[in-house]
Amino acid sequence: MSMAVPRPGQTYKTVTLKDGRIAVLRAPDFHDLDALLALISELVEERVEIITTTKPSRDEEAEWLGRRLASIEKDNLAALVAEINGRLVANCEVEQRTPQFPEMSHVGVLGIAILKNARGVGLGTALMESLIELARQMHLRVVILDTFATNTIAQGLYRKVGFVEVGKIPKAIHRDGSYIDMVRFAIET
Ligand SMILES: CC(C)(COP(=O)(O)OP(=O)(O)OC[C@H]1O[C@@H](n2cnc3c(N)ncnc32)[C@H](O)[C@@H]1OP(=O)(O)O)[C@@H](O)C(=O)NCCC(=O)NCCS
Repeated sequence: MSMAVPRPGQTYKTVTLKDGRIAVLRAPDFHDLDALLALISELVEERVEIITTTKPSRDEEAEWLGRRLASIEKDNLAALVAEINGRLVANCEVEQRTPQFPEMSHVGVLGIAILKNARGVGLGTALMESLIELARQMHLRVVILDTFATNTIAQGLYRKVGFVEVGKIPKAIHRDGSYIDMVRFAIET
């Protein structure tokens, strides 16, 4: 693995968004615990189309963050948060899918979520392009992600940055009494 992915806390880049706000993209570190807990809590409350539907406790979030930071140290994970005016508004990552299986060690899995007040101004595009670049630096040749079939905004973003739809798992999600298909996207880096 290359050592080029940002270490915890390290700034990756600064981008100017379409509305003029400036976002700092950097790797998370342990000081982000409460901000990340607030971020996931807000997304769960909004019921965005992600598979997490319950707010983690602070202890659970601390354990999750600790594991992620350890994965960054092992070069199995590249993670970025985005800050606008010192407030954490987005979290995303690309992770080596099965480091224990050498024949699949070139496949990464991507996830991204942005708070409502920072959507639609290009931050998702900047984060996705950064993650694809980081995936290359990690020697991940293929990156995959799964999305609710109903999440057309996310699918627009994925297509825009070069992902293609590769499959559909029928009725993978059961939410509010209805079944929703899961659509898988992939990109060759
Ligand atoms: C999906 C998400 C990451 C998109 O990020 P974003 O910062 O809003 O995206 P951008 O502003 O960079 O827009 C990128 C593309 O997304 C699509 N898009 C964004 N906002 C849209 C809207 N309101 N309506 C339709 N398409 C939209 C467009 O294709 C857009 O391309 P364009 O800039 O050429 O118009 C963000 O909306 C989000 O975090 N949503 C909640 C959590 C979530 O759904 N995560 C994905 C789970 S798989």
